[in-house]
Amino acid sequence: MNIWTPQSWRHKPISQVPRYPDAAKLAAAEAQLAKFPPLVFAGEARELKSHLADVARGEAFLLQGGDCAESFAEHGADHIRDFFRVFLQMAIILTHGASKPVVKVGRIAGQFAKPRSSDTETVDGVTLPSYRGDIVNDIAFAREARVPDPERLLLAYRQSAATLNLLRAFASGGYANLARVHEWTVGFMKDSTAYPRFEDLAAKIDDAIDFMRALGLTPDNTPALRETRFYTSHEALLLGYEEALTRRDSITNDWYATSGHMLWIGDRTRQPDAAHVEYFSGIRNPIGIKCGPGLSNDDLLKLLDKLNPQDEAGRITLIGRFGADKVAERLPRLIEAVKRAGRTVVWCSDPMHGNTIKASTGYKTRPFDKVLAEVRSFFHIHRELGTYAGGIHIEMTGDDVTECVGGGVSAVTEASLQDRYHTYCDPRLNASQALELAFLVAEEIRAQRPARSARVISV
Ligand code: PEP
Ligand code: CO
Repeated sequence: MNIWTPQSWRHKPISQVPRYPDAAKLAAAEAQLAKFPPLVFAGEARELKSHLADVARGEAFLLQGGDCAESFAEHGADHIRDFFRVFLQMAIILTHGASKPVVKVGRIAGQFAKPRSSDTETVDGVTLPSYRGDIVNDIAFAREARVPDPERLLLAYRQSAATLNLLRAFASGGYANLARVHEWTVGFMKDSTAYPRFEDLAAKIDDAIDFMRALGLTPDNTPALRETRFYTSHEALLLGYEEALTRRDSITNDWYATSGHMLWIGDRTRQPDAAHVEYFSGIRNPIGIKCGPGLSNDDLLKLLDKLNPQDEAGRITLIGRFGADKVAERLPRLIEAVKRAGRTVVWCSDPMHGNTIKASTGYKTRPFDKVLAEVRSFFHIHRELGTYAGGIHIEMTGDDVTECVGGGVSAVTEASLQDRYHTYCDPRLNASQALELAFLVAEEIRAQRPARSARVISV
């Protein structure tokens, strides 16, 4: 019989593992991590799971987003603040559009390790091991830089702790106060097509706050107006790191990953009988499963059996990443299979990872039109099948980068990709593209909301 422990994954086949040259040094770093404090509490993960259960019931919407890969070099207060304010702007656009709570989950404070489609990278005839994220090796194209270094596990942990600390302060220390909604607008966004729409919305929020103030509800006496709940998530790829931060909750005695509130399994490591699924089966956090075009109905149902045998609402978020050209063919059959099996999941769309192309200039990019097209199809398919389109999962930054082509009046072109192409892995939406997407999603959520009269009749 297979008894789960935080290390039982070590007896299963595993993919995407870095080759550390010194096993003893790796073990020492993992042993040190195991003594470090947890980054999040089990109670917080449970709270997020209950919010995701609301999403599964169609009563809330999930916004998940952040860097493809966090980096050591970009770590700083301004970078975190700029991300957080664009994220808040998106969230307020969605809350207003949906008239529903938005569950806010960042790809941040732990999103370091990257799965790669090839173990090696070749440039000008030189072949080196691939970059696997700052938690593993260095992005510089040099032999020494690409050697996996266990010290990086400790650096990633410490950076995650510092990032989380600032995010907690932003979320509850006044920055998220709705009375400050105008301050979230960043300078360069004034050129964006989304900017006037956001200013319009901000004016409506001002009116609503004035109205509530007249009734005696102010940000000072109403926590919901001055603070927000913000959760963290990442792909749990490096299982040694995750194992070291897996702790037993003193209240329930259950095991929780404490490296982040929500963890997800990547599209390359979701084989039902392999190591990553084994690890995820024993932790009680809410979890995501990336669903690419290659996922069969059978494998999906096997994953749901293994990872959520009790069909607990909020436990599983299925994050579809098919590509704008494939979503209409791949998503409906998965929805039908999950419906037939009577399973409870959150349906979420990642419109980024199936839409990556190589620009003629050599840069990896994503056409913004394709991102929007996949999101539109996602909503359309759920409307047709009578299921609830519950969330989006995106790669975005608060910085004015040029990584995805298209969008807005000052659209990024293939030629301008080189201007501010800063990502450590995949191309991200810049602030202006992120807001444009949020307005589109808000319209789609509105369209899937039952008409007011229908809601009244059904009460
Ligand atoms: C990612 O989210 O950065 C990623 C690698 O996704 P996927 O596993 O869906 O390819
Ligand atoms: Co990515």
